[in-house]
Amino acid sequence: MRIIRSALLAALLTSPAFAQPAPAPLPQALFDTMVAGNGRVYPGFRVNHAKGAMYEGTFTPAPGGASLSTAPHLQSTPSTLLIRYSNAGGIPDAADSAAASAVRGMAFTFHLPDGAETDLMCINVPVFPSRTPRDFLGLLQAAGASKPGGPQPPPIGPFLEAHPETKRFVTMPKPMPESFATEGFFALHAYKVTNAAGESRFVRFRVVPAAGTAYRAAETVAALPPNVLFEEMQARIGAGPVRYRLLAQVAAAGDPTNDPTQAWPEDRQLVELGSISVTRAVPDSLAAERKVGFLPNRELPGLAVSDDPFLGTRAEVYGIAFPARQP
Ligand code: HEM
Repeated sequence: MRIIRSALLAALLTSPAFAQPAPAPLPQALFDTMVAGNGRVYPGFRVNHAKGAMYEGTFTPAPGGASLSTAPHLQSTPSTLLIRYSNAGGIPDAADSAAASAVRGMAFTFHLPDGAETDLMCINVPVFPSRTPRDFLGLLQAAGASKPGGPQPPPIGPFLEAHPETKRFVTMPKPMPESFATEGFFALHAYKVTNAAGESRFVRFRVVPAAGTAYRAAETVAALPPNVLFEEMQARIGAGPVRYRLLAQVAAAGDPTNDPTQAWPEDRQLVELGSISVTRAVPDSLAAERKVGFLPNRELPGLAVSDDPFLGTRAEVYGIAFPARQP
């Protein structure tokens, strides 16, 4: 009897009526949900941080870098930089003042004369909305299902109540900067750095504007031209380089290395790694940016990823996103 029952069960489960598509692996599901959230495909553009502009620059290391890491870009040789400023969101012509553009990006590739390279991907908020990539997928799905015509009550409400770290991120003020040159940027995730003495530490990288931070009054932003930040940067760079400092915030024992929703306390040691100088706009930035992709996990000797699960998952998502926007 038992044999007959299990044979029946096996036949049922393999019948076409029960054939379910395998759930998309997490990176593909993240990418697909971002595409769906945009409402349509914008051929050639990034599905997130779609609006951007590319610049060139130089990174000049400070002595502090070598005290933390043997990574070649943190020693004495300057690197050339390829930089992309961006607004988050998947709509390439969204206004800079739109609420969906409030998270902004600054991504870098460091090129050393000997061919070594690494990337640094930063946003202008020191924390991420989700603890894990799976939670972030849940957020994208809840947001996507909460558009007009969707289920009532909109699922985003209960999602935010169940995820206080996400609610904190969503409700935190994100004022519009005067300029990309007056905004600070954070790489969020912990990285493991190792120096020549073999000492390893966890750090979080941040980019601090030499001009200081400066923001616009909320009541003034609606009247601004749609590309005000990108136009301002173009004009500013014509008058001379835009400078930032690159710092490493060093973890103390017990600081979480796998949770980008938790900022480390501000009293942690900050080590000066060097100065970033943005020197000129890349000609025909729109064509140039299509051929460029950044990754958050490009290791070098003395620079390794931490146990933050976003680093690997993001790299896989970017590995899907880059080919998807090529001609
Ligand atoms: C699971 C979480 C995340 C997903 C699914 C995701 C997804 C994406 C995608 C699909 C792109 C477009 C990539 C391309 O076409 O080349 C992108 C761009 C970007 N992301 Fe993420 N992202 C995540 C987390 C983060 C985090 C934590 C940061 C900040 C440290 C970040 C910063 C950026 C920046 C700065 C860009 C623009 C890069 C450029 O200018 O080319 N992302 N993201």
